[in-house]
Amino acid sequence: MAANIAVIGTGYVGLTTGACLAHLGHDVVCADIDSQKIDRLNAGEIPILEDGLEDLVREGVQGGRLHFVLGAANSVTDREFVFLCVPTPQGEDGSADLSYIEGAARQISSSLISEAIVINKSTVPVGSTRVVEQALERPDVSVVSNPEFLREGSAVHDFLHPDRVVIGSDDQAAAIRVASIYLGLAAPLMVTDPASAETIKYASNAFLATKISYVNAIAAVCEAVGADVNDVVLGMGYDKRIGQEFLRPGPGWGGSCFPKDSHALVRIAEDAGYDFGLLKGVIEVNEQQFERVVQKVAASIDGSVDGKKIAAWGLTFKSRTDDIRDSPAIEIIHRLQAQGAVVTAYDPAIGADIKGITVCTDPYAACEAAEALVVLTEWDEFKWLDLDKVASAMVSPQVIDARNLLDRNRLRQHGFRYEGIGRS
Ligand code: UGA
Repeated sequence: MAANIAVIGTGYVGLTTGACLAHLGHDVVCADIDSQKIDRLNAGEIPILEDGLEDLVREGVQGGRLHFVLGAANSVTDREFVFLCVPTPQGEDGSADLSYIEGAARQISSSLISEAIVINKSTVPVGSTRVVEQALERPDVSVVSNPEFLREGSAVHDFLHPDRVVIGSDDQAAAIRVASIYLGLAAPLMVTDPASAETIKYASNAFLATKISYVNAIAAVCEAVGADVNDVVLGMGYDKRIGQEFLRPGPGWGGSCFPKDSHALVRIAEDAGYDFGLLKGVIEVNEQQFERVVQKVAASIDGSVDGKKIAAWGLTFKSRTDDIRDSPAIEIIHRLQAQGAVVTAYDPAIGADIKGITVCTDPYAACEAAEALVVLTEWDEFKWLDLDKVASAMVSPQVIDARNLLDRNRLRQHGFRYEGIGRS
């Protein structure tokens, strides 16, 4: 049955949630505080690069099931369900900053209908369901935790084909009503208490970060013992208990979620009296990984990048997104610049200079007079570029492939020196 839904916040999570819920047949109003953004969204234009999202927004707007309005309070007046999808940035002490979510709750409080359900989709520390209840001061309104597991770049697919839907509520009736929103999806649905639902989200992201740090550490071992990490990972992944997913070595993990959530979980544990040494180690290995890539670049040009021209392919934190928040690519470039390197970058999703980095509009221009090329994001198009053109643009044709993306045999045939991660 179609439900009346409001979604507060039109960032990656809110916009995907709103558009997908409209696609499932619900009547959805999305609210934001930016009036220009609202006008563009009502015209079917979306401000982010996200596979399939623009089509869904247009479909919802044209079908009359998706609307965008200014201000949270305006959006909730006749809504049975209100999703909170506002940011929870990292505070100064590593903990998540709840001011946006508390602010949103206070703004909608007096406009909510009786028996409405407020659903927390933002990633919030354990206990935040209670914080929202307190900010609302509406005993007739239930607050339910319903964490998202959407990857940027495949968020629409992940929403419509989830591995699971988690609902955290002490109120069985409210949990069943929230579950009814997702009836159109073929996925296991799990109902638990709010603290467990909130912990599932942090524990999942921290576990995935742990897998990646583990494989990056194994890559370092592979380099030391002369093994090939790609084969090692393939061999490990055939074991169903391990699986092939999230074992790609790289320049370290980043983005708007893993860094923030792993720090927040360390903090949550600490506040509760547990020293999460394992997760601290995972974060530490990630920091080392940035430095290991920097050192590889330096080693490829006589040990120092000072005054050297270096080309970088990739700026976003992963491919298929235009998001550069906490991007390992940017971190590594900044570290190279701090050591005196002159870096020119190219990224298919970034059109202008950013964060003190010169950005070229084509990948060959970025390589002009460079002494080394470092590949930092796994964009597919990098695999198909004209290697002779790259080589002739560079002073010396050598590649540090921090994503193990390129075909090393083909590069060597074209006269390149090649160095990957965890393999020679
Ligand atoms: C992550 C989770 O995967 C989602 O399930 C979660 O909902 C989301 O955070 C969130 O909390 O909102 P996302 O940040 O979009 O999604 O990106 P991922 O695809 O998880 O990648 C994170 C980082 O790990 C990237 O820097 C990526 O390049 C890196 N990575 C990923 C690797 O280095 N190796 C891998 O095998 C996989």
